Amino acid sequence: MDPSTEYTGAIDRGLEGVVACTTGISTISGSTLLYRGYTIEDLAANSHFEEVVYLLWHGRLPRRTELAEFSARLRAQMALPPQAFGWFHGLPTAVHPMDFLHAVVAGLSLHDPDANIIEDAANLRKALRLTARLATIVAAYHRVRSGQWPLQPIADRSLAWNFLYMLQGREPDPARVRDFDVCLILHADHELNASAFSARVTSSTLSGIYSSIMAAIGTLKGPLHGGANEQVMRMLLEIGTAERVEAWIDDALAAKRKIMGFGHRVYKEGDPRARILRSMSERLTRDAGHPEHYEMSARIDDHMQKTKELLPNVDFYSATVYHSMGIPIDLFTPVFAVSRVAGWCAHVLEQYANNRIYRPRGRYAGPPPSSYLPMDERG
Ligand code: COA
Repeated sequence: MDPSTEYTGAIDRGLEGVVACTTGISTISGSTLLYRGYTIEDLAANSHFEEVVYLLWHGRLPRRTELAEFSARLRAQMALPPQAFGWFHGLPTAVHPMDFLHAVVAGLSLHDPDANIIEDAANLRKALRLTARLATIVAAYHRVRSGQWPLQPIADRSLAWNFLYMLQGREPDPARVRDFDVCLILHADHELNASAFSARVTSSTLSGIYSSIMAAIGTLKGPLHGGANEQVMRMLLEIGTAERVEAWIDDALAAKRKIMGFGHRVYKEGDPRARILRSMSERLTRDAGHPEHYEMSARIDDHMQKTKELLPNVDFYSATVYHSMGIPIDLFTPVFAVSRVAGWCAHVLEQYANNRIYRPRGRYAGPPPSSYLPMDERG
């Protein structure tokens, strides 16, 4: 028996080119991104996050009463359950915020009576709780680590409004709320991205939504996925001034470093979300009194196209957008999760509806079959 020849399926490193499931949630074609058939530009211009969540989960835009009822149910779930407060305050906060988010989601599952009930109504209730509460957790984490008491959400305000309010401790400017809401729309789903795939793999074992969302949070954290937005801002601060951009990028590329916020497995003609975020970044960095951050970003963008023919992805201009809104740099990736949880839940619900466990093969390249060696014969 030669196990290295036993399995002869094609190898696609990183699963490039593999179609792993059928999905009706979102798709990428060229540089067009569609959520349930609507372009991301159309949704960013006309919709808002709660409506997009409904669209992703139910497959169509809601009617007026459906939206009102859905938004009220979602917003009513934003407050953390009272039992959570005791242990929440006891957790260490000098940690990566994505690890904190992961731990709190695990903790919340212990208090959720639906946690291990895998049935449609319970799954929707949990999806609602998770989507409503990630924003509250991230804002509360920041308040607690800054020595402040967390603020409770206000149930008749949107998730975008509440996040900025709970994070910054004051009523947010309506224009900033709209900008942040657009960011939530842009990040809500993205076909079979790594974290959505993680969530689907976990739910395909018929493990519950909490486990699937925790798997997705862990996957999003990495700098090749959602962690890139934080690294982009750190890179801009390290470069410091626009005149240093080209030399800094050339040195990084010569050292074979990846430039965060560039490249994409699927988009080869440009990421439509980056185009929307680029114009937001230009406006918001100017309003925040840091136009140099946009100027540096635009120079990096030009230089990367000239030298590597690589285009920016969603994480590149979102960094300066979030920074201009006063969001702390280490919260950029948790803010991505605050939105993407809606897509993760949509994928888990879709996976349950037509489930088959994910179980690919690995082509064996290890030692040949051998007999167990007793200890004193091992040399
Ligand atoms: N900076 C420099 N070079 C890059 C690059 C980047 N950001 N992205 C890709 N490349 C280069 C690779 O080095 C590779 O070159 P090579 O063929 O000479 O080795 C080539 O482009 C293909 O890249 P690869 O990493 O194989 O593509 P991938 O599809 O496996 O990975 C990403 C896609 C997004 C993970 C990758 O582009 C990347 O790491 N980008 C930076 C992180 C980031 O912004 N992530 C957020 C994604 S939304």
